[in-house]
Amino acid sequence: MMNENIPKHVAIIMDGNGRWAKEKGMKRSEGHKEGGKTLELLSRYAKKRGIKVLSVYAFSTDNFKRSQEEVDFLMDLFINYFKNKLDKVCKDGIKVVFSGRKNLLRKDVIDAMEEISAKTKDNQECILNICLNYGGQEEIVDASLKISDDIKSGLLLEKDLNRDTFYHYLYQDLPPIDLLIRTGKEHRLSNFMLYQAFYAEIYFVDTYFPDFKEQELDEALEYYKSRDRRFGGIKTN
Ligand code: IPE
Ligand code: IPE
Ligand code: MG
Repeated sequence: MMNENIPKHVAIIMDGNGRWAKEKGMKRSEGHKEGGKTLELLSRYAKKRGIKVLSVYAFSTDNFKRSQEEVDFLMDLFINYFKNKLDKVCKDGIKVVFSGRKNLLRKDVIDAMEEISAKTKDNQECILNICLNYGGQEEIVDASLKISDDIKSGLLLEKDLNRDTFYHYLYQDLPPIDLLIRTGKEHRLSNFMLYQAFYAEIYFVDTYFPDFKEQELDEALEYYKSRDRRFGGIKTN
């Protein structure tokens, strides 16, 4: 099935780490650790499958509502992950980029993010877009502010703004999402990539993220293959 109707941009709402751990009698933090391992595996596998962009929801702007202990644990995990795990993944030619607001993030987290982005900036096999302190509405608001600045300064003409050029103002200028996966039983977007998901095929799966491995991704890709994407038109054959 190599490259045969493979989605160019796959996005994953990596949900269910906490419940995965709780059901095993472990602490929520164990679930986050296990989720990290799954992501490492999936990013390599996605590349192997020919997916060009993999966007993953790691931490939402609203996740700051959680306990300080959980937030701190996650931030430490991210740093460790960027420094030690992603490094290996990146030898495979994966370019790491980030989406989200930098404010409210600890300096050591930002430093680790910048380090891994710089290290992988010339990689061209595929892109891993990590959404960290990310909100879909925030992204649209932030894009609108940049657009307003560019119009005021004459860099952008109003007549040149349309739904395609709007992408240039998002955190990363990536293609629209073809396949959006949410693990962990919930059927909602939770403020994830609202602009880019406009015609995404949506795949909800009960599996908690730590258990969403190669076989589960293949099942999602099979689902995608079976869809008839009309984009508002009518099927002709
Ligand atoms: C997703 O798992 C990871 C993050 C939001 C950081 P959760 O932590 O939301 O796990 P559940 O949904 O409580 O099981
Ligand atoms: C979405 O999961 C955010 C991430 C996966 C990072 P949440 O667990 O935060 O979403 P809700 O609260 O169930 O909507
Ligand atoms: Mg959750």
